Amino acid sequence: EKGGYEHFMLKEIHEQPESLANAIRGRLDFNLGSSVLSGMGTSSRDLAEINRVVLLGCGTSLHAGLVGEYAFEDLADLHAEVHQAAEFRYRNPLIGRSDLVVAISQSGETADTLAAVREANQKGAFVMGLCNVVGSTIARETGRGVYLHAGPEISVASTKAFTCQVAVLLMIALKLARGRRYSREQGMHLAKQIDSIPEFVRATIAQNEAIAELARHYADNEHAFFIGRGCMYPVALEGALKLKEISYIHAEGYHAAELKHGPIALLEEGTPVIAIATDIPGKDKTLGNVEECRARGARILGVITEGDEEAAAYMDDVIRVPACDPLVSTIPATVALQLLAYHIARIRGCEIDQPRNLAKSVTVE
Ligand code: M6R
Repeated sequence: EKGGYEHFMLKEIHEQPESLANAIRGRLDFNLGSSVLSGMGTSSRDLAEINRVVLLGCGTSLHAGLVGEYAFEDLADLHAEVHQAAEFRYRNPLIGRSDLVVAISQSGETADTLAAVREANQKGAFVMGLCNVVGSTIARETGRGVYLHAGPEISVASTKAFTCQVAVLLMIALKLARGRRYSREQGMHLAKQIDSIPEFVRATIAQNEAIAELARHYADNEHAFFIGRGCMYPVALEGALKLKEISYIHAEGYHAAELKHGPIALLEEGTPVIAIATDIPGKDKTLGNVEECRARGARILGVITEGDEEAAAYMDDVIRVPACDPLVSTIPATVALQLLAYHIARIRGCEIDQPRNLAKSVTVE
């Protein structure tokens, strides 16, 4: 059932080109430079009335929402905010009819996300689900949404659900962008980039052996830092979550600029810093932060864009991802970090598919 792979997690990482193709297939309109997401159940008038996007989720799904926040703001000029779903219900969420609430959940059964959906429904917002499990409670209670089509995810550590969530969020953002400031040409360009995601991911997975090799340098530490800026900041959070979840290494994800406001005090000779420094706006600043870490003796692993020798020169080790649109590149960059976490955990002999204290679906608050 693991299809020849040692763990479900590794199988699911490798399935991503296929699961992403399934998530994307039939949902892009290259002619209009837009996306076709009929499950959203929105007319163009509904879309025009949306003033704000509120994204809800927990854990990895929360991180997908954080990438989505950049997409809605950058592409659609829409005010977007992300709430940890548990928090949403216990504050006074100021939402109403002009808000598009997107509940993100692989399982569709996470108690906190479900409670937040009920609260948003109660307040009359336009609520939709981004679920993988068909017919799950959140999918049913939202009544509208976009299924991920990632296929069953068995490993407790979420991998293919995350990349499909980001791909679907990009398609929703594209649709909203086209009703706002995005031209047909811009839309066509992004649609093509989204369509190439499976290929970008395949090229990243092709480095599996090399990643397994460099993981040896990072498997003996008890701490690690992941840093990134812009849309790579949530990728840093996701990379850190993956590592701590399956390898039990204490990993922290930080905005690269935040390091010198405290955490840099923890760096010692050999402390691993994983810098997501692909070629996006702000990369130079991230490289500056990498230099600060290096000066404190940190060992730096960079996730960089293929062919970027300038960035490579700052790093002790590199994983290269294909050159692509910045928002799109969050997907291959995350795949690189999934493989890194997997190989580190494997070297440490961890119970990868079933980490201690964790359940696949968290159905209690
Ligand atoms: O099923 P959901 O997407 O609602 O689950 C949310 C989190 O429990 C989940 O992403 C969790 O953080 C994973 N173990 C992360 O790998």
